[in-house]
Amino acid sequence: DPDVLRDAAPRGLFVGTAVDMAALANDPVYRERVGAEFSSVTAENVMKWETLQPERGRYDFAAADELVEFARANGQRVRGHTLVWHNQNPAWLAEGDFSRQELRAILREHIHTVVGRYRGQIWQWDVANEIFDDEGNLRQNIWLETIGPDYIADAFRWAHQADPRAQLFLNDYNIEGVNAKSDAYYELARQLRREGVPVHGVGVQGHLGVQYGFAPDTTANLQRFAALGLRTAVTEADVRIPMPADTVELQAQAQGYSSLLTACLRTPRCDSFTVWGFTDRYSWVPDWFEGEGAANLLDEDYNPKPAYREVLETLALA
Ligand code: G3I
Repeated sequence: DPDVLRDAAPRGLFVGTAVDMAALANDPVYRERVGAEFSSVTAENVMKWETLQPERGRYDFAAADELVEFARANGQRVRGHTLVWHNQNPAWLAEGDFSRQELRAILREHIHTVVGRYRGQIWQWDVANEIFDDEGNLRQNIWLETIGPDYIADAFRWAHQADPRAQLFLNDYNIEGVNAKSDAYYELARQLRREGVPVHGVGVQGHLGVQYGFAPDTTANLQRFAALGLRTAVTEADVRIPMPADTVELQAQAQGYSSLLTACLRTPRCDSFTVWGFTDRYSWVPDWFEGEGAANLLDEDYNPKPAYREVLETLALA
């Protein structure tokens, strides 16, 4: 059916969405669209530490299992999100007072347990999420403070031990174009590759806003990572709008989506394009940015917006 994103996409490009597990369970229209429209899924929240290991040593895989099973039933790949982050960590971890050795052991155990459980079932893992600040310095977080910068290489090595076939990614926002932050990723990726650390890709999240404009050099940026031998991916695309959205802004939003998709299509081995939710009915944006919203491809009633038509057409022509 060429009228859905997954079928319009050229061979080898997987089109994904973040999945809200509550909506998947409670909203049949949502569930139907996730299955019909996408060839890849990412857990919006349920593969994060606070969900998977709410208490030290007690794992809860119920919701993550549900998503992996849904994906299997619908012939979809799964992007795993995420193994190391500064956010959505359980209180016992965030507030714990661990030695370097203890925290290293905790991280290693979590990665081995989680990646090992889904061995062979997760296509790409966002191993390290948002580890640089916008100036390109390593972000202050519990991992850096307690373990030191080696936590990054170790996380990739541990994930690779647990599932040698999974593709392992760095992932961040504000790295669509060439800038201080994406330069930092470029240098890190080059260094890790030189050291033989199993890093396979860089994910550009793609959280854009019409009021900020869109980086004109996204293609060049993705291509420089490709030239290092890395895969790339657009992992969390959305384009928010100051509310209420008018027709000019909805048109600009469509251009924002296509700037990301087109860059991916022009880059060798950019093989996944994922949106961070696909309907304005469920979106993190209004909760985080006061007065902004309407960031997704479909409106609150699942009607296609100009952005949806633009993405569908761009895929079909590729
Ligand atoms: O689960 C609780 C629920 O029990 C409670 O009633 C409710 C009340 O606020 O909160 C619920 O938790 C919320 C959680 O999403 C699940 O819905 C948190 O408050 C809320 O902060 C959390 O937001 C998520 C955010 O990450 C947190 O960092 C968003 O859904 C999720 O879309 C967003 O995703 C991130 C990516 O992981 C990384 N890149 C940026 C992206 C957008 O911020």
